[in-house]
Amino acid sequence: MTDSDAERIAVLRRAVNYHSYRYHVLDSPVISDARYDALYSELRVLEEAHPELITADSPTQRVGEEPAEKFGKVVHPAPILSLSNCFRMDDLRAWRERIGKLLPDGARLDYVVEPKYDGLTVVLRYEDGLFVQGSTRGNGEVGEDITSNLRTIKGLPLRIPVEEPVGRGQPLALAGAQGVPRLLVVRGEAYISTSDFEAMNARLASAGEKTFANPRNAAAGSLRQLDPAVAASRPLSVFCYDIVAADGVSLETQMELLALLRRLGFPVSSHVKRFDSIEEIAPYYNEWVELRDSLDYEIDGLVVKINHLRTRDGLGMVGRDPRGATALKFPPREQTTKLLAVHVNVGRTGTINPLAILEPVHLGGVVVKQATLHNYDDIARKDIRIGDTVIVRRAGDVIPYILGPVPDLRNGSEIPVKPPEVCPSCGGRLHRPDDGIAITCVNSDCPDQLVRRIEYFVGRGAMDIDGMGSKTVAVLVEQGLVQDVGDLYTLTAGDLMQLEGFQEKKVANLLEGVTASKNRPLARLLAALGIRGVGVAVAELLVDRIGSLERLASATQEELEAVDGIGPHTAAAAVEWFATRDNQRLVAKLREAGLNMMAEEPAAPEQAQPLAGHTFVITGTLPTLSRKEAKGLIETYGGKVTGSVSGKTDYLLIGEKPGRKLSTAQELGIATLSEAEFRALIAS
Ligand code: IVH
Repeated sequence: MTDSDAERIAVLRRAVNYHSYRYHVLDSPVISDARYDALYSELRVLEEAHPELITADSPTQRVGEEPAEKFGKVVHPAPILSLSNCFRMDDLRAWRERIGKLLPDGARLDYVVEPKYDGLTVVLRYEDGLFVQGSTRGNGEVGEDITSNLRTIKGLPLRIPVEEPVGRGQPLALAGAQGVPRLLVVRGEAYISTSDFEAMNARLASAGEKTFANPRNAAAGSLRQLDPAVAASRPLSVFCYDIVAADGVSLETQMELLALLRRLGFPVSSHVKRFDSIEEIAPYYNEWVELRDSLDYEIDGLVVKINHLRTRDGLGMVGRDPRGATALKFPPREQTTKLLAVHVNVGRTGTINPLAILEPVHLGGVVVKQATLHNYDDIARKDIRIGDTVIVRRAGDVIPYILGPVPDLRNGSEIPVKPPEVCPSCGGRLHRPDDGIAITCVNSDCPDQLVRRIEYFVGRGAMDIDGMGSKTVAVLVEQGLVQDVGDLYTLTAGDLMQLEGFQEKKVANLLEGVTASKNRPLARLLAALGIRGVGVAVAELLVDRIGSLERLASATQEELEAVDGIGPHTAAAAVEWFATRDNQRLVAKLREAGLNMMAEEPAAPEQAQPLAGHTFVITGTLPTLSRKEAKGLIETYGGKVTGSVSGKTDYLLIGEKPGRKLSTAQELGIATLSEAEFRALIAS
């Protein structure tokens, strides 16, 4: 060994630690990944040659220990407390009032608000700047020793302060004036980021291994790995937010505490804010309810802490919760409940979709009784069984879905879910593709598929037939009155009157809705046919370029692909659809029924523009035109559309349930038009 090897090792160790900190903690690397890898390899090679020089804070030592038999115990230097919960702003106001009674009259407080990380509490012990031990919270007094697993977390400093590499003159201590405490025990939350979680689950799935239900379970499972090599392969991260014990450190406020942690090189969230009053926290909380999805890690609320540490600590505890801090939780997006059964839905295109029937559970303001199970392959991979306690999630507007089971709560009576042998609707043969994912019923006469196709045809964005809900569609199919969507147009009052629960008014409304739908723009009809890949936007492109349904039906793959925005798959699906005999019969039937099959004639610029110089305002729901379509027509014929009625308005186009615009227009003596009158105007 030469002196220069030892020196070089020290330089490299410091450089690798520093650049790892820049990358994992500050998110602002200053060297390339390749350069980092080169430094790391050089260090490893030198250490291999001089094993006596390896130290615990060497970055090469993050992985390397042997699997343990079981975890040792760690007695925490001070109790690791929990937090009381507030579920709404009023709870937080009540918290403030409660503590106010224990403080001198008129005491003014300020607060620090931090994200509440949805991970697992970890306790990190540093002696003379060296990371010596890490543990779980355990029962708050005694935790489990998970040092080897925590060492694998790239953003966790193995030595503090993290220092700039030597070599360019003066080394720079980040700790600033206070130096490094002889003993420092820091509290943080270990977690797995959402993107890392998804990538990790994909990796596990493709290796045929069990996936995790959510990032929190994944983090918990990874921290409790007895083999640190496995933990190292799991993308754990950590945020630090508290000091449990420290020698010779004097801090006044939580803001100072966080600043110190930051200076020492710990990962601390940048989303920390100080407030002078509880009321200022209300809008901030509302903002975060929306913003939480924009983070790459899960938070389940905010933590509100009294900033002044002595005031906070002086308030003492209630049970295991400190009085001086509280969690302000977000409305939950996940709940556990029992999986009672798995029903089967047959989709519009014949896909066999499993549907979870749940013991009803409150989630995000509604009672959830059913949830999506993606497919049978997914059920098998997650090993979801009937009778299992399952985690159901509902985020934003999405349909609730099952994340996975909680296997620890099984009692042995749970039954594995089997995919159906035959179509549950028609009893027909099922097609099982090699990937096992999309099982489909291949019978085009399958009643459930027919119901779904009709529901789609009459639905919003398609033909939008008023009064035709799922129940009505199901009855019409069940009674044999409708065998394809074309049959909707030959229904008579007599047919409908004999159905249970259909009286005159309902029948008249339904027939009126059916008739009105005949005049829908061609793009809507095209979208309603349910050709794979052809939604309204794509249908509009096709109609604009090709014109009539007749021309579309005879278009070749090349012609369709030539339309801007149409890809080969969609073009092929359209050609195939129109080539099918049953579909050709259907188009003929729809034509005979009098449905509009022509594109709206775009008014040529040189053509007369009857609306030129006139300003329109639209209010209410028009019988056949959407707002966008009406606006398009007005503009095509030279008119202008504005949002509100004023002295400059010439016409108010009114539909059903007109708003205040109608009374304003009447007051101003502005002419009103129905859709029919409007059509007459542009036809003139
Ligand atoms: S402070 C006295 N701050 O939430 C200090 N805890 O539900 C008490 N947690 O057990 C903890 N993010 O594990 C604090 N920014 C944060 C936190 C946080 C997550 C966890 C912590 C606690 C649990 C209570």
